[in-house]
This record gives sequence, C-alpha cells and structure tokens, in this order.
Amino acid sequence: MKIIGTGSSHPSLAVTNDKIAQIIDTSDEWIWRRTGIKQRYVVSDERFEDIAADAAFKAMENSGLSSSDIDFIICSNTLNEYTTPSLSAIIQGIIGASCPCVDINVACAGFVYALDAANAYLQIGKMHNILIICAEEPTRMMNWKDRSTCILFGDGAGAVVVSDGEGFEASDLSTSSCTEMLYQKRGLCSTPFLKQKEESPDAGAVMDGREVYKRAVKYSARDIKNVLMETGITADDVTWFVLHQANKRIIETIARYLKQPMSKFPTDIERYGNTSSASIPILLDDLNRNGLLKRGDRIMFSAFGAGFCSGACLMVWNK
Ligand code: COA
Repeated sequence: MKIIGTGSSHPSLAVTNDKIAQIIDTSDEWIWRRTGIKQRYVVSDERFEDIAADAAFKAMENSGLSSSDIDFIICSNTLNEYTTPSLSAIIQGIIGASCPCVDINVACAGFVYALDAANAYLQIGKMHNILIICAEEPTRMMNWKDRSTCILFGDGAGAVVVSDGEGFEASDLSTSSCTEMLYQKRGLCSTPFLKQKEESPDAGAVMDGREVYKRAVKYSARDIKNVLMETGITADDVTWFVLHQANKRIIETIARYLKQPMSKFPTDIERYGNTSSASIPILLDDLNRNGLLKRGDRIMFSAFGAGFCSGACLMVWNK
C-alpha cells in the first residue's frame, strides 16, 4: 500500500487563545507554554460534513483519481450530529462515490488504525483504491467551562487516498481498556423501563490531563520502538516522525526519549490545536503540499487517545 494523495480542510473561524481568554479564566501565555497551541479552527456557520467532504475532494484531486475510482471509504470520526447514518455514508453522497463505506471510532488514534485496516483490505486484493477521511469536531464535545480541556481542541478534517503499491512497512496497534481517563457520555432517549438517574447530556468530555499525558508518552514511545524492532531499522533511519498533535510538550518528550532532533518532528498544533484523529493527515497534507516529502522518505506515524488506544505505523513515501 502506498499513499497517492492527501487533502485537508478547516472551518472558517479561527479562535485564538486571547479570544478564549475572554470566555474563561485562562491566558494566551498559559495555553502556549503548556501546550504549544496559539489558535484552533472551530465549526460555526458551516456544515461539518462539508468540511470532511472538502478534505476528501482535495485528497482525490491530489491523487489523480475521481470518486468513481474509489473502492472503499474508511472514515475515522468520534462524534458528529448523526448517530446514524455513518459519517462516511454522508460524505459518500457529497463526493459522488458509490463504493461501500465504514466509520471507525478509535478516538485520536483513528488514522493509524485506518491505515492498518486499509492495508489489510488491499492485501486481500478485493480493493485497489481506498479513501481514508479523518473528520472531527471535538469542540462540540467540550464543556466550555472546563478550562483544562476546552483550550486543547480544534475542528478539522484530513484525508488520504491509498492504493496498491510499495510503502507500508509495519504497524503496531494496542488498546488497553481504561475508560475513566478520557470519556464523554452522550444523552440517550429515555424509555419507560429505565430506572437509572437522569444525567446531564451536555456534561462534556471528562479528562485526567496528567494521566493522559503520561500514557501518551509511554505508549507512543513503546509503539514506535516495536515498529522499529519489527522492521529492523533504528530511529536514525526515520526521516519524519509525524505524531498526533495533542500537546507540543508530549512530542518533545517522545523526541528526547528516541534521542532524535525536533527537526524530524514537524508540528502544526500552534495553528490547529488537537484535531483528534484528523491531526496526522492534516499535518501530512501540509508537508506534502509544501514539497517537504521526498520519494523514499521513511515516515513514522504515531497516535494515541481515549480507550486508551494507540498505534504506530511506518511507511515509505512513494507518491
Ligand atoms: N488556564 C490557566 N490555568 C489552567 C488552565 C488553563 N486553561 N487549565 C488548568 N489550569 C491550572 C490548573 O487549575 C492548575 O492550577 P492549580 O495548580 O492552582 O490547581 C494548574 O493550571 C496546573 O494544572 P495541571 O492540570 O497540572 O497542568 P498541566 O501542566 O498538566 O497541563 C494539560 C494540563 C491538560 C495541558 C496537560 O495535562 C495535557 O496536555 N495533558 C494531555 C491532554 C491530552 O493531550 N489529551 C488528548 C489526548 S488525545
């Protein structure tokens, strides 16, 4: 499997740290120093599904394929307006594709899981071109009174088209059920048969930031090491480490652990915040469109999030 096209799209409204400091008790200085974030894009007047479809259109255009060439769509999404139908089915209609579609919810680790699944589908030989879209609007999951969570996230979508070819080297995925560290409950319809206490449906995401931070560093470093071991290369042989953009300090800690310079860890968290599973394909698209990726570059992807789910994947850039 190789990546043959990338695309990304963002809502029109940029919300700076200063703007958030007008709403809750925080400051640009605190957010920047603790996270590396300066601003994020937030869904306001537009339809979220149009942003997701825009990223898909751009990835297809970049790949030279059209919607009729796509054999399968995998969409990584944690939450959107619809419980059903799937977001991938909605996007399929907008982009005019007619292939089967599936949504996956692996929180922020979704892109790496989608790559792994796409590789398996291509290997079976039933499909040849797969569109992966990671589309997330975490700002609508937040309690905007909780200053330790709402400052972190931004909305956006990133997409890639993958195809038969040489590129996928190895992946390592893991899930260790730990649901209290980061979760959001949704409001469900009540029935005459439920005796449970009514919960506020808009409680927002709950997160133990320090614990998530520690696990993110530990699991990402472990996943990367496992992939390096499986492929028999060292961290020095990797050209780019394209990591989930959750917190710049997490990325710096992983770079130190791997004894690699920060110049191999591109970041865009300052502009976009944490866009959950969309963060890696958004960053990859920025690198691709800025001409920074050369044929033969080895790219290590690594992501982590609620679950606790994490994974790393090594690919050679062969576009
Ligand atoms: N502005 C100002 N002060 C804030 C604040 C904000 N937005 N958020 C928290 N604080 C305060 C706390 O109340 C606390 O004050 P106290 O010492 O008086 O009690 C202080 O800052 C330190 O809080 P703490 O939670 O220890 O800060 P931290 O250095 O751990 O940073 C996070 C908090 C959330 C930025 C950090 O833990 C983190 O990034 N964790 C990982 C989260 C993540 O990536 N989640 C998604 C994973 S996919």
